[in-house]
Amino acid sequence: MKFFIDTANLAQIKEANDLGILDGVTTNPSLMAKEGIKGNDAVMQHYKDICNIVDGDISAEVVSTDFETMIEEGKKFAAIHKNIVVKVPIIKEGIKAIKWFSDNGIRTNCTLIFSAGQAILAAKAGATYVSPFLGRLDDIGSDGMELVHQLRQIFDMQGYKTEILAASIRSPLHIIKCAEAGADVCTCPLDSILGLLKHPLTDSGLAKFLEDAKKFA
Ligand code: G3P
Repeated sequence: MKFFIDTANLAQIKEANDLGILDGVTTNPSLMAKEGIKGNDAVMQHYKDICNIVDGDISAEVVSTDFETMIEEGKKFAAIHKNIVVKVPIIKEGIKAIKWFSDNGIRTNCTLIFSAGQAILAAKAGATYVSPFLGRLDDIGSDGMELVHQLRQIFDMQGYKTEILAASIRSPLHIIKCAEAGADVCTCPLDSILGLLKHPLTDSGLAKFLEDAKKFA
């Protein structure tokens, strides 16, 4: 399973990249706004900065909802760097745009996936990735992980090449469960990635080893 970081914060992206285990970055308009990025030039520069930090797929999300403008936005994003993946919402115009991008050699990440039907349409249109939002499904009392299992089964059975990119990750347990479910990618906040490291027996075990090491130093 590939690890992406789900943020537009450059310091966090650098920290995750320095671990040596980062395969890519996903952003969305909310994450970009959180960093105080304003205006087209600043947005484009921010994606360039991310591409300069991470050698992996970088999702840049369109903010239009009609086919023509999505294509214009996506072409500009794709021209920034070969690693840019155009993120498109699962709406009717979005499906048309994903098909156009796919036919024209531009890779896509279909976002805001909450059902198997949406994911099937995105895969049929040629999306490179589909992003089921686990945490937001859990928030409304649905089982987000169940959707990942369902997508894995359908995509394998149908031979879809589209990768399942589990998103809206809220905890280290989500990451572990995504690995179990066969997600191709998990995009996570930095805290959830670092949370995988934690175990009290590791802390106490290391403290004891370091204490004992003093005896033969
Ligand atoms: O990037 C899309 C997704 O990961 C958003 O997550 O936490 O806002 O539901 P969240």
